[in-house]
Amino acid sequence: MVSAELAPLAKTGGLADAVAGLSAALAAKDHDVRVLIPDYTAPPSGRPGAAAIEGGASVSPAESTPVPVYLIASPAIGSGGAIYLGDERDAARFWAFSRAAVAAAAALELESDIVHCHDWHAALVPALAAARPPLDAAGTVLTLHNIGFQGAFPRSVLPDDAAAFLASLDDEATGSRDWVNFLETGIRRASAVTTVSPTYAREIATPELGMGLDAVLRARGDDFVGILNGVDYRLWSPESDPFITPRFRRGDADGKRRVKRAVMTELGLADDAPLIGAVSRLFEQKGLDLLVDALPTLLERTRARFAVLGSGNPDLEAALSRAAKTWPERIAFRRGYDEGLAHRIIAGSDFLVVPSRYEPCGLTQLYALRYGTVPIVRKTGGLADTVTHYDPASGRGTGCVFEHADVTGLIWGVTTALEWYESPADWERLCRNAEGLDFSWQRQCEPYEALYRRVIERRRQRSPSA
Ligand code: ADP
Ligand code: GLC
Repeated sequence: MVSAELAPLAKTGGLADAVAGLSAALAAKDHDVRVLIPDYTAPPSGRPGAAAIEGGASVSPAESTPVPVYLIASPAIGSGGAIYLGDERDAARFWAFSRAAVAAAAALELESDIVHCHDWHAALVPALAAARPPLDAAGTVLTLHNIGFQGAFPRSVLPDDAAAFLASLDDEATGSRDWVNFLETGIRRASAVTTVSPTYAREIATPELGMGLDAVLRARGDDFVGILNGVDYRLWSPESDPFITPRFRRGDADGKRRVKRAVMTELGLADDAPLIGAVSRLFEQKGLDLLVDALPTLLERTRARFAVLGSGNPDLEAALSRAAKTWPERIAFRRGYDEGLAHRIIAGSDFLVVPSRYEPCGLTQLYALRYGTVPIVRKTGGLADTVTHYDPASGRGTGCVFEHADVTGLIWGVTTALEWYESPADWERLCRNAEGLDFSWQRQCEPYEALYRRVIERRRQRSPSA
């Protein structure tokens, strides 16, 4: 695995959880899995014992991780701790990481069958690997966790070696003269391409949601598939969650109420009303601005309280802070990144709202389900694949699914879900439905195993001596 993020070592979002969960599940099935990630915090003098590779880079094994992890340090990546700088400097940083990862594989003699690369940060690895033993013998898989981030840069910001390498690729003619696109290069050159839910796979193959890469994806035909993410239930279930007290057994409504009370006390809210949580990066994609706009109506029409944790867009952060100041007894907002509080809000809330404009998979709704926290989600991408709208007549369904990414759609979703909450029979049924689902990585890793086998088999057929 080659990735910019890996929980718990380096995490800004679901990418970290997905790579960690998939790697652990594969390792548990006796696959020999190694994960290569950038070393964002290496001391400038290098880590003691690190093996020098090339270009001033070095590799060292991370300590006490369940799956072996190699940290790739390089002066070009920097050592300030930042995962992303969010500007053109990231081109040189992740180029250096990708190049060093392939060199590290050679130094460590990693004779892999499959190199599985994640997102644009590692999307040049398939091309780099093809040019260098031992990884030139491996099949490559590229997983798109979010097509909104492509690593598109003006050619002029690339270091010379990166510019020369990209210019040497024969598919370069298809790119633009002035721009490079790391993700596009990866999509063209990986043996197979995946994204993190079947619906998102269909969506991004269309011009409306493909963000300019739909044609390149369609050209991959059957070699582009959607495989739903999974959950590591050792970290995300009421029986074993390391961040909640007290833990409780699934289906134990009293146990859940205690966690709800604890988190509401932590956030300065009274616990005598339904609690709607949100844990999210605060960007356009996630639609939390819709929640801000819906709040006045929701506060007037319902008795719900809100617990929001997130960071990102400063305007949105400010709007949420203002809302929490205006209605302190109804809304709590914590700005920042807090793993423990994320678990407690997801575990303790009655509902988790995910009003995304688009969502490749989404993990928080999967986590919520396990705790009997009912997801209220927009019908898009992985949200549409993982939550089914509750139907009081049949008693089927696991959450509330609304159609439109606008304030009216969201208000409809929240008020509909709250009606079920007020009906004890429906509420009991809905919570049991939600927590009964199984999205474990143990299961969800099987389609990846099948894909790996297919890629390996195809390579064997092409070069029978391999
Ligand atoms: P994305 O990867 O697009 O951000 P996901 O739903 O796949 O969305 O994953 C988000 C992950 O990041 C979850 O593990 C969630 O708990 C976590 N997360 C998001 N924001 C925060 C935050 N402010 N503090 C702690 N964890 C957060
Ligand atoms: C991305 C997506 C999210 C997905 C996660 C893990 O960050 O935005 O939907 O769950 O990657 O695959």
